[in-house]
Amino acid sequence: PVEQPEFDLRNYIRNIPDFPKPGILFHDISPLLRNADAWQVATGRLARVIAPWQPDILAGIESRGFLTAAPLAQRLGCGFVMLRKPGKLPGETVSLDYGLEYGHDTLQIQVDAIKPGQRVVILDDLLATGGTLAASVQLLRNVGAEVVGCSVMIELTGLHGRDKLDIPLHSLIHYE
Ligand code: PRP
Ligand code: MG
Repeated sequence: PVEQPEFDLRNYIRNIPDFPKPGILFHDISPLLRNADAWQVATGRLARVIAPWQPDILAGIESRGFLTAAPLAQRLGCGFVMLRKPGKLPGETVSLDYGLEYGHDTLQIQVDAIKPGQRVVILDDLLATGGTLAASVQLLRNVGAEVVGCSVMIELTGLHGRDKLDIPLHSLIHYE
């Protein structure tokens, strides 16, 4: 009952300067998550974009990617797979190390998470430089996935992160 095209999800993002470091403007999704109407609008819009990609699996990037990937997987009848920081997943894993603006990071997936050719959509909270999402696409391909799209709640368009991706990217909210 709450879905209206004019419902502006931006009103539920709190922008906090100098977090976690001086000079960084942090886009906090907590107000969106705790407002029942806003959260329903957000997940409804995500579902309508992702369903036509016909995924078998939704992959969430630790940790805020889990917030959308898990409930949407249930809603769309998909499986849910976790991409995690190193050392968190049990059993045999596959890793990918990727560069950040300062330093590097690693994501891991369980080696048997994806059956060959399964269609996967990747979800995260935010796209900045695109390094995290581009690495996630590569990691999923390395375990046999066909990555058919990715979706974020917030895109920082000025950083041109989407240029690092060779698949469709959807964002709910964007900032310059
Ligand atoms: C943030 C955010 C995205 C990533 C986007 O995660 O949650 O995952 O940065 O940045 P990029 O597009 O430049 O790669 P972060 O690595 O800060 O860790 P966190 O999710 O554990 O807080
Ligand atoms: Mg993250």
